[in-house]
Amino acid sequence: MTPPPAFSRAIKIAPSILAADFAAFGAECRALEAQGADWVHVDVMDGHFVPNITFGPATVRAIRPQVRGVLDVHLMIAPVDPYIDAFAEAGADIITAHLEATPHIHRTLQAIRATGKKAGLALNPGTGAEGVAHLLDMVDLICVMTVNPGFGGQKFIDMTAKIRALRAMIGDRPVHIEIDGGVTTETAPLVARAGADVLVAGSAVFKGGTADAPEAYGRNIRDIRTAAEAAVGQAV
Ligand code: DX5
Ligand code: ZN
Repeated sequence: MTPPPAFSRAIKIAPSILAADFAAFGAECRALEAQGADWVHVDVMDGHFVPNITFGPATVRAIRPQVRGVLDVHLMIAPVDPYIDAFAEAGADIITAHLEATPHIHRTLQAIRATGKKAGLALNPGTGAEGVAHLLDMVDLICVMTVNPGFGGQKFIDMTAKIRALRAMIGDRPVHIEIDGGVTTETAPLVARAGADVLVAGSAVFKGGTADAPEAYGRNIRDIRTAAEAAVGQAV
């Protein structure tokens, strides 16, 4: 396995395998990386915190050897604490929990960091930026949901004001801002300009391709990256 890359605010594209062929995760992950994906995003859903069920630590363990880069595991589950060790042992590099999934998010972030993994904190669209003020030194990533979690292919919800507020709060800390939901070539510039550096995309990456014919994945990743990079640093 290659060592994790040093912290950078360069735009990173993290395809979500929620939009992949579930019978071919290995081939899909290899195709994504060959086509330029920076991270692979894994959406874990429990049918309780969100109204959909996907997969658990055993799937993450199976995928791990197929991914050379960062395995970004987004837990949409409640409770979350009993499962942190299992996802860490399965090979996640980043474990993200939702602020709304527990009354004790501080403890959850401590538990993630205690495994030696990077800790992420996700915020639903209805949750304000102020909730993270006392957690900024405990996180490596803040995931701003731009859909209500549970399903791929939903319409983007504009959270640019929240992203700008978080970017200002983070300052020089090595904390990524990740955007999850409805990212396309149209919405990527909005979030990149507001301060996001990690763009999760499911439908917009997988459209038009398959693991056997993945050239469209590459084009889609490049198009989203180019659109985002063109917007970085532009006046808000
Ligand atoms: C939503 C998931 C997202 C989703 C993104 O609950 O966390 O990662 O799969 O899919 P698109 O890009 O299709 O909105
Ligand atoms: Zn996600």
